[in-house]
Amino acid sequence: MNDEFQIFSGTSNPLLAKGIADHLGMELSAIDLGKFSDGEISVKIQQNVRNSDLFIVQSTCSPVNDNLMELLLMIDAARRASAKSITVVIPYFGYARQDRKVEPRVPISSKVVANLLQTSGVKRVLTMDLHADQIQGFFDIPVDNLFGSLICVNYINSLNLDNLVVVSPDAGGVDRARYYSKRVHGGLAIVDKRRERANVSEVMNVIGDVKGKNCILVDDIIDTAGSISGAAKALIKNGANKVYCFAVHGIFSGKAFERLREAPFEEIIVTDTIPVNETGKLGNMRVLTVSNLFGEAIKRIYKGESISSLFIE
Ligand code: R5P
Repeated sequence: MNDEFQIFSGTSNPLLAKGIADHLGMELSAIDLGKFSDGEISVKIQQNVRNSDLFIVQSTCSPVNDNLMELLLMIDAARRASAKSITVVIPYFGYARQDRKVEPRVPISSKVVANLLQTSGVKRVLTMDLHADQIQGFFDIPVDNLFGSLICVNYINSLNLDNLVVVSPDAGGVDRARYYSKRVHGGLAIVDKRRERANVSEVMNVIGDVKGKNCILVDDIIDTAGSISGAAKALIKNGANKVYCFAVHGIFSGKAFERLREAPFEEIIVTDTIPVNETGKLGNMRVLTVSNLFGEAIKRIYKGESISSLFIE
């Protein structure tokens, strides 16, 4: 594919951006990103973008606010340089868990982020496994939400595990777990969990038959790993054979690596929507790339082809 459009990478996930460009047989377009001495972000696009369709790849993972601001400034620079259209490719969409008022006098932060992106002049958002589907409605522009499940299901099937049970680590994730269980031809179980306060979880009990089974816990996000590690221990306590886990987005903040090291996981599988910190990375961690899927989606957006057909089996 020739440079019919351009791809720019922010600083949050350059390896993924390079993988996407490689899939498309393209080079990333040149941009200088840095910081002024007081911490303000500096952006300078290094090539002509006049009348070009641009795709800007930036996960709004940690440092969330810097990455978000850098993205907004890149969009502004591109718009002022007369780009024809700007699509933001946000493999991990930060602030997505703050999607509603769970108590009085709190913000709906993902709506604020949507407002910022939309006012900055983007034409379209391409993302993956948004924590809450309704965030698409916070935008009045198209939002294409890809699914990492495609990549995970292929990987799980390649393991040829028998006696498989897909487990949701909480009641809220049952639909997701059911979706996976159908595709890996496994059973379904739920860990009934009570969360006392944010980022602290308490595992209660396992609903479903996991005795002697190979279990795969599935979630959209591993953050502090409290939920998934607690669930894994509950499964082993209930007689599970091997326990795997899959989450699209591996944030791994706080005590995540410590908890995962102590948890009884055969394998911890995530994707590269967020770069995994190499120093903390555990031996039983596998990172599957989503670069081909994003590359294909970008190509289809540019050509006006269907994206949903990517997910029809
Ligand atoms: C929550 O609604 C999400 O789907 C994840 O279960 C949660 O973000 C995981 O957080 P942690 O790893 O900190 O338990």
